[in-house]
Amino acid sequence: MTTLTLSRYLQQKLDLPGVTPELCELIRQTGDACHRISDAIAKGALAGVLGQAGSENVQGEEQKKLDIITNDLMIAATLGGGCVAGLASEEMDEILPVPDGMKEGRYLMLFDPLDGSSNIDVNISVGTIFSILERPDGQGPVTEQDFLQPGNQQVAAGYVVYGPSTLLVLTLGDGADGFTLDREQGVFYLTAPNLQVPKDTKEFAINMSNMRHWELNMQRYVRELLEGITGVREKDFNMRWVASMVADVHRIMTRGGIFMYPYDLKDPSKPGKLRLMYEANPMSFIMEQAGGASTTGRQRILDVTPTSLHQRVPVVMGSANEVERVTGYHLET
Ligand code: AHG
Ligand code: MN
Ligand code: MN
Ligand code: MN
Repeated sequence: MTTLTLSRYLQQKLDLPGVTPELCELIRQTGDACHRISDAIAKGALAGVLGQAGSENVQGEEQKKLDIITNDLMIAATLGGGCVAGLASEEMDEILPVPDGMKEGRYLMLFDPLDGSSNIDVNISVGTIFSILERPDGQGPVTEQDFLQPGNQQVAAGYVVYGPSTLLVLTLGDGADGFTLDREQGVFYLTAPNLQVPKDTKEFAINMSNMRHWELNMQRYVRELLEGITGVREKDFNMRWVASMVADVHRIMTRGGIFMYPYDLKDPSKPGKLRLMYEANPMSFIMEQAGGASTTGRQRILDVTPTSLHQRVPVVMGSANEVERVTGYHLET
């Protein structure tokens, strides 16, 4: 049985409403960028790509050299490639419209070029996340407002996890499918079609060191997980926390679980750590397409109306029955 390549897979998806040759080409371009990112990460110290860049991003985070290198690789592969009208990234303060004289397209792409970058210097899996929207009708240069569409407007989303192997998980709104990169050939092969997240789980992912900052309901929910069968839950739980959202969520896409980066009172101006437009929205789209669920703890993430490009949102995503249980703990509206 010959394994389907990403290119052949995309050709087959052209029959789907909303899937266009331009969208397929943009995903192919993004796959090429992620192949280059995978090679840069694999070289690590030998390529001099580790360590701090000595700059800060709009989030006030210390940028790693690879944050910038991966950002540049995503731009080089897509800007002016005829598929996008503009780009937005965790690592860029403003949107990046296609410059005059370069070929424009109908899509907007938002991305986190290197997710989990605090892990890169200690050789733990990291990832890339991307979200694709249609540009709203209108003339003239694309604006930030054009990007501020709710997650339910995404036409495609994907992540790549750079782990023992390099895996791409992609949705075009017709399920979620996994591909493995053959590094020598530079080809992604379909290796995990139609991913399905188990509805129940015994595994949770959260950074426990923030416990005292969570809302009381969240503290109660997690305490019940820790009590396991000795408390109100009918089973014992296991815990995992990689601190790369892509790695934690990919584990859940593969064997179930619940991932939480909840609202915390550590900094009331930041309702959570994760960014809506290029972390929570694309990962939520993929998770729902695989039968999982994703909320802020109060509402479906894909229904959140964005107000700013780098806004943060609390995230509770994974096995649907467990997400529903947590969301129920926020008894108020
Ligand atoms: P990024 O590296 O793109 O800034 O994202 C890091 C995020 C996410 O990947 C992960 O789940 C979370 O930060 C981990 O946060 P803590 O370090 O607070 O656990
Ligand atoms: Mn970052
Ligand atoms: Mn990230
Ligand atoms: Mn990042």
